[in-house]
Amino acid sequence: RLLEIETRHRLQVLGHLLPPSALSNTATGKTPDALKILAENAEYYESVGRYLAFTRVSSILKSLPYAVTSVDSLRGFPGLGEHCRKVIEEILEDGVCQEVESVTQSQRYQTLTLFTSIFGVGVKTAEKWYKEQHQTLADLRASQIRFTKEQQVGLQYYEDLTTPVTRAEADMIRKTVEEAVYRYLPGAVITLAGGFRRGKETGHDVDFLITHPEEGKEKGLVTKVIHFTFCFSQGLMLYSDEIGNSYQKCRKQETSKFDHFERCFTIVKLNQELVNAAVSGNDSREGGQGAGGQGAGGQGAGHRPEDKHWKAVRVDLVIVPISQFAYALLGWTGSQLFERELRRYAKNCKHMILTSHALYHPQQNEYFSAAAEEEIFAHLELDYIAPWERNA
Ligand code: CTP
Ligand code: MN
Ligand code: MN
Ligand code: MN
Repeated sequence: RLLEIETRHRLQVLGHLLPPSALSNTATGKTPDALKILAENAEYYESVGRYLAFTRVSSILKSLPYAVTSVDSLRGFPGLGEHCRKVIEEILEDGVCQEVESVTQSQRYQTLTLFTSIFGVGVKTAEKWYKEQHQTLADLRASQIRFTKEQQVGLQYYEDLTTPVTRAEADMIRKTVEEAVYRYLPGAVITLAGGFRRGKETGHDVDFLITHPEEGKEKGLVTKVIHFTFCFSQGLMLYSDEIGNSYQKCRKQETSKFDHFERCFTIVKLNQELVNAAVSGNDSREGGQGAGGQGAGGQGAGHRPEDKHWKAVRVDLVIVPISQFAYALLGWTGSQLFERELRRYAKNCKHMILTSHALYHPQQNEYFSAAAEEEIFAHLELDYIAPWERNA
C-alpha cells in the first residue's frame, strides 16, 4: 500500500489486469508465489538487497486488484528489475519458471526452509548445520550440536509451534494474560498487536502490548509479575526470555535496528479443551486460568497425542510506557515489510527516523509526540492506513 502511495501515478498506467491466480506458480502447487520463493532463497544466501527486491515486487503484485497477463503491461512498475520481469514472463508463458523450479528442488533451499522454521534458528545457523551435512529434524536431534535454550524448545515443540495459532486461541491467551497482569496492575491496558490486529485469522504467535495510563506504573511488569505468576506458579510457561527496558532518547538508539522495551518472548501452554469449549459456546469455566493444563502432558514430544490436551504457543509480551504507545503499536502491528517500507519512506522522503519508540528529525533534533497512530501518519504527511491495510 505504501509503495502504491509512492508510485500511485505509475500503478495507474498498468493496464490489462486479471485475477491474481494468473501469477501463481501452478507447477509447484504451492501457495507462496514464485517471487516469494526467490526472495527466500536470496535470504538464504544473505543477500538482503535481492531479498527485498523480490519481496517488494511480490507484495505489490499481490496487492493489485487484478493479476498481470502480459509483461509489457508492467512497464513503469515500481522496483521491477530485469530478473523479476523474466520470471513473470516465463510463468505467464509456460506456467512455470525454471529457476524457481530448481530452487524449490534444491536440497539447500529445502533444508534451510526447514531449519529456519525452528524457533531460535536464523539463516546463519541453518546454513552452518546444512554445511555440516544435516538435512532433517531427526538429523539435528541425533547430532552432537549444542543447541541454545531457544533451539531446544524449538525442536521439542516443533509440531505445535509450526501449527498456526487461531484467533480463538489468541482470545484465550489474552484472558490468561489479562488475569496475570490485572492482578498486579489493575489499570493496565492490554492490546493485541501483530498479524491478528491486521485482521489475519491465524498467526505464528500472539503479540501483546501492555501499558498503563500513568507513565512509570508499567515498569518491571514483565520481570516481577508475569514471571512469577503466569510462568511458574501455574506452570503455564514452557519457555521465557525476558529483558528489561533499555531505552534512552538519543540518536544512537534511534538508529538501532531493535527496540528497547521491557519485554518477554515466551512459549506458553495453552489448554485446547478450554479453547474448544469457548468456541462451541460451552465455556463453563468461572474465572479460572484461561490457558494451561493441570501439569499433565509431560514433555511434549514422545507422548501419545490423545493424552496431550494442550498446545505450545509463542506469545510476545511488550511493556510500553504510555508516551511511546502509539509508536509501539505502529511498530508491533506489522507486517514486517510494511514497517520496513514505512521507515524507508520516513527516512528517504521525510528525513526522519521512525522506530517503535519515536519519530525523530536528526537535522532539527526534534521528537514528534503522538497519542495515536493517526498522528504518526499525519507527521509523515501520509493518509492514515488502517491495520488491515498493512498486510504488505
Ligand atoms: N517486531 C519487532 N521486534 C521484534 C519482533 C517483532 O518490532 N523483536 C515487530 C515486527 O516488525 C512486526 C510485528 O512486531 O511488525 C509482529 O511481528 P511477528 O509476530 O513476527 O509477525 P506478525 O506480523 O504478527 O505475523 P504472525 O501472524 O506470523 O505472527
Ligand atoms: Mn505475530
Ligand atoms: Mn512472523
Ligand atoms: Mn511476534
